[in-house]
Amino acid sequence: MSDIVQVHGLGKKFGDLVAVDGVTFDISEGEIFGLLGPNGAGKTTMISMLSCLISPTEGDAIIDGHSISHDAAAVKAVLGVVPQEVALYPTLSARENLAFWGRMYGLRGNTLSAAIDDALDLAGLADRAHDRVERYSGGMKRRINIAAGVLHHPRVLLMDEPTVGIDPQSRNHILETVKSLNAQGMTVLYTSHYMEEVEYLCDRIAIMDHGRVIAMGTLDDLRDVVGGMDVIEVRLAEASDAVIERVAGIEGVKRVDRVDDTVQVLTPSSGSLLGELVVTLESEGAHVTSLSVTEPDLESVFLHLTGKSLRD
Ligand SMILES: Nc1ncnc2c1ncn2[C@@H]1O[C@H](COP(=O)(O)OP(=O)(O)O)[C@@H](O)[C@H]1O
Ligand SMILES: [Mg+2]
Repeated sequence: MSDIVQVHGLGKKFGDLVAVDGVTFDISEGEIFGLLGPNGAGKTTMISMLSCLISPTEGDAIIDGHSISHDAAAVKAVLGVVPQEVALYPTLSARENLAFWGRMYGLRGNTLSAAIDDALDLAGLADRAHDRVERYSGGMKRRINIAAGVLHHPRVLLMDEPTVGIDPQSRNHILETVKSLNAQGMTVLYTSHYMEEVEYLCDRIAIMDHGRVIAMGTLDDLRDVVGGMDVIEVRLAEASDAVIERVAGIEGVKRVDRVDDTVQVLTPSSGSLLGELVVTLESEGAHVTSLSVTEPDLESVFLHLTGKSLRD
């Protein structure tokens, strides 16, 4: 069976600015696929093209057999979209907001009320259904926004950074909601700049930077980019270029990156390196305030590929 989402060389230019640059990936039915990238990577532009809000300047995507360029109506019928900006009427209640969105999707009568009940349960807000949305916390608004995106039981759900700027409890609720929608068979495209979320949720991940996919695969595939190596993270009272240069020269150091006063050292042999590393740092007058050895995560993969931190 062919993949439910097929993205072929998709690109978008705004004037001279290349926001998305020839991106290609497929998502199979039932997957949670992550697009991970820092602010400005092109995630929202990707979601806007896939949901037929803006047209691509190159390439195409086929969703459930329909082209986003030639058959937007058929594509939209398959999709649920949770946009980055919360799209709710503040003076209406949650139930009224959901009713509005449900009618937009063509739901009426008992089918609409049942869909709203389900959506309120999903959002964990059944008891607040009649309160005006303007009285909700940011996290509650986002939960309603997700409920609005899935009222009509779409086969493919596009979610654009659904957890930015909310409390940890709402964040956990949202992550569990994504898991449960997926367990019911929904295919999910999830964008985020939080690597912990895509590590937790996604079957496969595409890492984006400056409009391009720079690495793609399962978490294990991506860890293999820095394969078999450890990351030693050293926080210094003050890091200088001279210190970085000395560390880079130590035998067994594959790569050194620096974000502010934290130095990350990639090495296949952390055990034998630690002693010499600390001695070298101290001899350069760089006071070590903390030190840890970890397995590479997506942050180290990103750092390794781009030389910068996802968190910047
Ligand atoms: N409507 C627009 N007009 C001009 N530039 C845009 C527009 N939308 C996005 N961009 C630019 O495209 C790039 C990618 O933006 P975006 O897709 O929003 O990234 P992300 O969602 O990953 O933060 C950024 O440089 C952004 O400034
Ligand atoms: Mg965005």
